[in-house]
Amino acid sequence: MSEERKHNKLSTASGRIYVENDNTKSVGPRGPILLEDYILHEKMAHFNRERIPERVVHAKGSGAFGTFTVTNDISKYTKAKLFNKVGKKTKVFARFSTVGGEKGSADTERDPRGFAVKFYTEDGNWDLVGNNTPIFFIKDPKKFSDFIHTQKRDPYTNMKSPTMMWDFWSLMPESLHQVLILMSDRGTPKGFRHMNGYGSHTFSLINDKNEKVWVKFHFKTAQGVQNFTDEEAAEMKSKDMDFSQRDLLEAIENGNFPKWNLKIQVMSLEEAKKVDFNPFDLTKVWPHADFPLIDVGEMELNKNPDNYFQDVEQAAFAPAHIVDGVSYSPDKMLQGRILSYPDAHRYRLGANYEQIPVNRCPFAVNNYERDGFMRVDGNQGSKPNYFPNSFDDIEIDNSYKEPSDDLGDHIADWYDRNSKVGGNDHYSQPRALFRDVMSKEEQDNTIKNTIGAMSGISGPKKDEIINRQLCHWFRMDEEFGARVAEGLGVNVNAVMAAMNGAH
Ligand code: NDP
Ligand code: HEM
Repeated sequence: MSEERKHNKLSTASGRIYVENDNTKSVGPRGPILLEDYILHEKMAHFNRERIPERVVHAKGSGAFGTFTVTNDISKYTKAKLFNKVGKKTKVFARFSTVGGEKGSADTERDPRGFAVKFYTEDGNWDLVGNNTPIFFIKDPKKFSDFIHTQKRDPYTNMKSPTMMWDFWSLMPESLHQVLILMSDRGTPKGFRHMNGYGSHTFSLINDKNEKVWVKFHFKTAQGVQNFTDEEAAEMKSKDMDFSQRDLLEAIENGNFPKWNLKIQVMSLEEAKKVDFNPFDLTKVWPHADFPLIDVGEMELNKNPDNYFQDVEQAAFAPAHIVDGVSYSPDKMLQGRILSYPDAHRYRLGANYEQIPVNRCPFAVNNYERDGFMRVDGNQGSKPNYFPNSFDDIEIDNSYKEPSDDLGDHIADWYDRNSKVGGNDHYSQPRALFRDVMSKEEQDNTIKNTIGAMSGISGPKKDEIINRQLCHWFRMDEEFGARVAEGLGVNVNAVMAAMNGAH
């Protein structure tokens, strides 16, 4: 490459200096324009290609760079290098998002919030792609596209449809725990700084003796949990659609850097065999009393990206991206996500998406992947492009091998989702949340929000859907069910009779 020539003149992408940027060359002052004015073509053609596919979910989001600092030694659980010394700092990029809305939708919609963090570690990038809730609506990846369709627009009306949402949720009782949290004021957090983040899935940690434990990750906001009420969220929607983006951007601009404390819960492989719930079921939490939180470190966000599209829109987080010492678990949802995200990135950003600066790992990688659209990193030059070969010194390192999993003598089959065996209790954990954790005010607001959300159910199946969902609420907590039924003007005795008939 020749030496970079710096000037302040407007130029085309190929470097030609513009002589005119207001008018197109034409035949006489009133005449038609000339095809040869290439600058017009370049401007129009590039503009026409400015949009890339938005994320199929989590399209509206905000991101920032920052630092993760280790505050407590967890090396007895993991050999991951980012955790190997108290005080150690690792660069991070975090992106927060709503889930169901389009890229231009409002930040204060009732929805879970995405909480994705990319750690640029010396062993490669580790992506913890979580939400602001510790659980999820479904427990099998086969249901994800069905579920998300209910959160998007109705194929006929092209409008959001509470009928689709509650129809699906009422037919999928495992969603109840997540729906309860969504209906609480945590469904409308006051911006991204005031919410917790949860890795949600069970993952594993592996130490330097190659011993494995199961783990859950929790980011607790140092700003304190703060939520909007339903009315406040609706009001903010009409006042400032971009409330959360503005709040995060301005806090960082003002040097008011938001922080989160990373904590883990640890379960041994033996404990996992004994607990009375499936520890790999994404609709369940691990009770804190049995699996207390252990401090790990602090994440601080301290730098806004210079360019939103470059760093936030093109960011690609994938649960598949793990590092030595942190690994997967048998959680079916996690297993499905390992496949889904890189596939989505190749569609949304192209095969070489990992070369985009925000996605690039901190060191040059060695592999035999070559070519493809927009390969701009030198394409590994003249190095061999096949393995094994007699020319380079690239090796496989068996010391990075994970311990094998003991799968017992199970045979492959489809899980019976109606079976009472295997953790199909959909009611105990939401009941504990509603009765034991929520304050009276939170309980009242959750009931009010639920009545408001269920009031949107309409159409010929309205009564059927409402009654089915009410049965789930009653099974969780009779008072909750009765108050929601009353708010919807439904006869409680009829629901009770329907429930008794179903059992
Ligand atoms: P704990 O009392 O030890 O934990 C309750 C947890 O609930 C706290 O982490 C708290 O988070 C969170 N919480 C408080 N208010 C709400 C709310 N309105 N919506 C959602 N979460 C809230 O009890 P257990 O660990 O035994 O869990 C009891 C129930 O709490 C569970 O069934 C689950 O529904 C819910 N929960 C449990 C979590 C876990 O990992 N064990 C995590 C989050 C919720 P914070 O301290 O940040 O306010
Ligand atoms: C984004 C699929 C469950 C959190 C996405 C994207 C896809 C996807 C395709 C868009 C990726 C992109 O274009 O960059 C799935 C599937 C799931 C699932 C198939 C279940 C099988 C979950 C769960 C969580 C989660 C359980 C949280 C615990 C996120 C987040 C993003 C995202 C935070 C946005 C990441 C970003 O900021 O770029 N998901 N998802 N997803 N998902 Fe999921």
